[in-house]
Amino acid sequence: MARRVDIETKTEELVLPIIEANNFELVDVEYVKEGANWYLRVYADKEGGIAIDDCVLISRSLEEKLDAEDFIEDAYILEVSSPGLGRPLKKEKDYVSGQELCESLGVSRTAVWKAIRQLEEQGYVIEAVRNKGYRLVEEADVLTVAELHSVLDTKWLGKELEYYYETDSTNNRARDAAEKGASHGFLAVADCQTAGKGRRGRVWNSPHGTDIYMSFVLRPTFTPSQASMLTLVAGMAVVKGVQKATGLSAMIKWPNDAVVNGKKICGILTEMSTEEDAIRYVVPGIGINVNATEFPEEIRDKATSLKLELGRSVKRSDVICAVAESFEEYYEIFEKTCDMSGLLSAYDEMLVNMEKTVCVLDPKGEYRGKALGIDEEGCLLVEKENGEVVHVLSGEVSVRGIYGYV
Ligand code: BTN
Repeated sequence: MARRVDIETKTEELVLPIIEANNFELVDVEYVKEGANWYLRVYADKEGGIAIDDCVLISRSLEEKLDAEDFIEDAYILEVSSPGLGRPLKKEKDYVSGQELCESLGVSRTAVWKAIRQLEEQGYVIEAVRNKGYRLVEEADVLTVAELHSVLDTKWLGKELEYYYETDSTNNRARDAAEKGASHGFLAVADCQTAGKGRRGRVWNSPHGTDIYMSFVLRPTFTPSQASMLTLVAGMAVVKGVQKATGLSAMIKWPNDAVVNGKKICGILTEMSTEEDAIRYVVPGIGINVNATEFPEEIRDKATSLKLELGRSVKRSDVICAVAESFEEYYEIFEKTCDMSGLLSAYDEMLVNMEKTVCVLDPKGEYRGKALGIDEEGCLLVEKENGEVVHVLSGEVSVRGIYGYV
């Protein structure tokens, strides 16, 4: 971690002047850990396209500078990647000629060739046919800042984003960023969490390369009690995002568990910082089981993943993008009334408990009833056998047919 902070501090000092001197626009800087090595990856743009030859120059200058300052250790390797090529290839379903790529990106033939090799190394499958050009056959499940920027089509969520190959918890990263003044919509994404947090102090299993761990910063003007409904909004965003990205019929188990075929695919942990009953910031953290095929013993019977349900792997960046877009849409509706009234019917349509018998685990006594949907405050409406309708705010609701409950 200490090394990483060093690099971060040096980035502004060393990268920015070089970028400026060469008339580049700095797109992103990211830190990638592979084995024992930290990679500092600098994305720079020139005239709308990446010029790999120019970037090599940046890399070399950087290395020299770092060397000169006796800062770089053996473990540091500087690398410059080429996010520019993914986009034109993604836009086209057909072949794109090498010449077109050179022209649209403003780079040399050699640079295009190098970038193609680099994308292939990342796992993209690119078909190259003489006299036709290149065609993207299969996109890789890569999570990088460049990849996320290339797929995110949001207005404010994720405009500022950080990606970690490994971190303790994305909620911690988003909270740190919020403390340092990150703006509304700042997004932290990780490939792996070493101390993923679940609700009620539980651990959230977060291995490398399979699932989604994302947290973002919100700076609402409403009250902390109204903010408690944001987990429901996040749950809706996961359900709609998963439906959109995969076609799976995901549903919500009240209050915010996203489920597919009766098993949980997602967990949401919302943290909040307040000052004298005003919100400083809220951090919703979302974990989605995307390509996991194994789960810890204690959740094996009630957890599933998108891959297990679809029978094929899913690109994580597509799901992140769909969830972020849906969250923006629902949040903007929520903000108008600061309650669930504008989202009631959409929520009820997603509710897997709707019209089902539920068992309310009330500390004062367990009872059963029929779930009728939610009210404006996000409470579950449960009709008891005697016709009384209870607004359930807290307590666990176990649902017939869900998580093995009969
Ligand atoms: C639950 O227990 O159901 C909530 C789990 C929330 C997990 C996510 S993963 C991303 C974010 N970072 C964390 O440490 N926790 C949340």
